Amino acid sequence: MLVHTIKELRELRKSWDGNLTVGIVPTMGALHEGHLSLIKKAKATCDKVVVSVFVNPIQFGPSEDFDKYPRTLEKDVELCKSAGVDVVFAPSPSEMYGGKCESAGSNESKPDAYEEGNRLSNDTLTYVCPPFFYVNKLCGKSRVGHFDGVCTVVLKLFNIVQPDFGFFGQKDAQQVIVIKKMVHDLNVPIKIIQCPIVREDSGLALSSRNKYLTEQGKQDALVLSRILNNIKACFKRGINDVSALKETAYAYLTDKYDLEYLEILDKNTLEEKEKADKDTIALIACRVEGVRLIDNIYLGEEE
Ligand code: PAJ
Repeated sequence: MLVHTIKELRELRKSWDGNLTVGIVPTMGALHEGHLSLIKKAKATCDKVVVSVFVNPIQFGPSEDFDKYPRTLEKDVELCKSAGVDVVFAPSPSEMYGGKCESAGSNESKPDAYEEGNRLSNDTLTYVCPPFFYVNKLCGKSRVGHFDGVCTVVLKLFNIVQPDFGFFGQKDAQQVIVIKKMVHDLNVPIKIIQCPIVREDSGLALSSRNKYLTEQGKQDALVLSRILNNIKACFKRGINDVSALKETAYAYLTDKYDLEYLEILDKNTLEEKEKADKDTIALIACRVEGVRLIDNIYLGEEE
């Protein structure tokens, strides 16, 4: 079932037996097998599954791809139906944030927060701001305010749906860590389940942004997983010095790549370390054909 308003969602939620467990899979739509793996896990874990489809304006910076982000709601709803999802929640920005909207009810409309350009100049919304330590690195460094936008929308979705479980992908490793921290710090009574990265056979991590790449770009994008796999292979061979592991990447990075970061950190806390160990994650962000792609890998045994 597709619902667009908070009121309808709340009514549905209320009509469900209180003993049933509820899971939410928050997404921005343009669903692919990565999203579907979260939905599958949610179906296996919970009695009722809600998938939210919402391109969240306040997590995009003014020069980012909010306008061109792929919107394929009809197809998303079909995929959710086939996967046995109980409710697809697809609110408009004005439903979520109120404010001035060009056409209320349309996903293309933008609330004040976006029109202001950045959240700091917006004084009409209460934000959830994760600790600086968790967001002054990796994606948070170049995308200032991004995780405030993510945490704010995710907490709103949690409050609207009141699920027992929330499902998130390791693909966005920093995002899961930040959300777990929020849930812990704010005593949100929800268990966060992290699901592994789904990749194409080639090794490319699935992402809605892969749609922006040409065939050549998709080939070139394989460099991200190659760099990470090579770091893991070197670690397995006994190299644990973080600087040495990072240096192995440079052989792969020709002119067509614009590396944003390559970090090797503690997988739970994102703290820096000099020596990699079993609790270490390698993370990369790199532009290919101008498209910002991210990927990561655990160096320990668990993958
Ligand atoms: P979106 O990019 O649509 O991703 C929704 C969820 O799918 C996230 O938890 C993400 O980590 C997961 N995901 C994406 N690609 C994946 C892959 N290849 N394998 C496994 N999981 C994958 O992340 C967001 O939306 C937004 O920030 C959101 C949390 C919805 C808040 O707006």
